[in-house]
Amino acid sequence: MAAATTDVNPNYDRVKDIREFDETKQGVKGLRDSGLASIPKIFIHPPEVLSTLKPPSQTNTANIPVIDLQNINSQTHRPEIVKKIKEAAKEWGFFQVINHGIPISVMEETIQAVKSFHEQPDEVKAKYYDPDRTPSKSRGVLYTSNNDMHRAKAATWHDYLQLLMAPEEIAVNVENIPGIVRKEAVAWDGCATKLADDVMELLCEGIGLESSRFKELSCSGQRYLVGTYYPPCPQPDLTLGLAPHSDPGTITVLISNQISGLQIKHGEEWVDVKPLPGAVIINIADLLQIISNDEFNSVGHRVRANCCEEPRISVVEFFLLSKWKEYGTFGPLPELVSAEKPALYRQFTEDDYFSNMYVKGLEFKSLVEKFKLQKS
Ligand code: OGA
Ligand code: NI
Repeated sequence: MAAATTDVNPNYDRVKDIREFDETKQGVKGLRDSGLASIPKIFIHPPEVLSTLKPPSQTNTANIPVIDLQNINSQTHRPEIVKKIKEAAKEWGFFQVINHGIPISVMEETIQAVKSFHEQPDEVKAKYYDPDRTPSKSRGVLYTSNNDMHRAKAATWHDYLQLLMAPEEIAVNVENIPGIVRKEAVAWDGCATKLADDVMELLCEGIGLESSRFKELSCSGQRYLVGTYYPPCPQPDLTLGLAPHSDPGTITVLISNQISGLQIKHGEEWVDVKPLPGAVIINIADLLQIISNDEFNSVGHRVRANCCEEPRISVVEFFLLSKWKEYGTFGPLPELVSAEKPALYRQFTEDDYFSNMYVKGLEFKSLVEKFKLQKS
């Protein structure tokens, strides 16, 4: 593989380097385990990206709102929780929830199971490695490195396992989930979905919708569980752990081990997110910004390349719409559109949605921008 350099060489064959990397079937973790001191060229980002990376000691920490769900069912306390969550979803697009009812042991077991999957012997894991990155071929299970390897200009320092958990017609059969994460993935999917549904009810109430409106629209109807492994990186100032993007779904539920790395774009600045121990991070994704007609905000985020000695693990559950056949199109909800607040987005079909998602690799607000109506 080519040596690390940022020189622009017209003869450089990126496709060949990617092919060779994929042929190892060992992902970024395999590179790290080989003990290499400098990262391969396919991972090196251009100067305009690298200049936004500050050393962790010089990076500000985002005080994303903390929402305490303890008294969610108390008539006295619920209105205050609703108000806080609505403000957080508008101002920050990211918040962390505490007293969410999910036992810490379940969170820890889920993270440990994802870590164990990635740390299996190479020959066991290689069976699952998919260089084509096609979840349908692999019946709802996809293990690979960098989903957008062929579309993005530069790769990032992570591998991931993705499981399609719903809707049932296309979801993975439980027996096809790798045994080492099976029990934990099923348990986490149940907990994350319950939490997402609770949060979506609060969000609905916050903007004057029926509490069940998002659920009925199928906002949690399609679910991907993604277990990402960020190996320690020998040159964290030359690459990223995950490229800047906003999530394409409705909401995202995230837990990680205690290694830092997640950053959000707040104003013009990239700031670190440091979850409280035991908290679950939730963020608004593009679809919820669109159907809420900008009542909620989908915010750009990325992950720094891991500069710790230990791997960073995250378990991210993505929620997306599923009832495309029933609804035909989605767009700003009629209840949220008025003469004073006209629709900011057009209606879109399932084809519009999927053909505009991450066309050039991970992207920031690609869907929000594509479906935005021009101001007349
Ligand atoms: C994602 C994501 C953050 C993380 O997978 O979309 O933003 O901490 N992940 O892994
Ligand atoms: Ni994301």
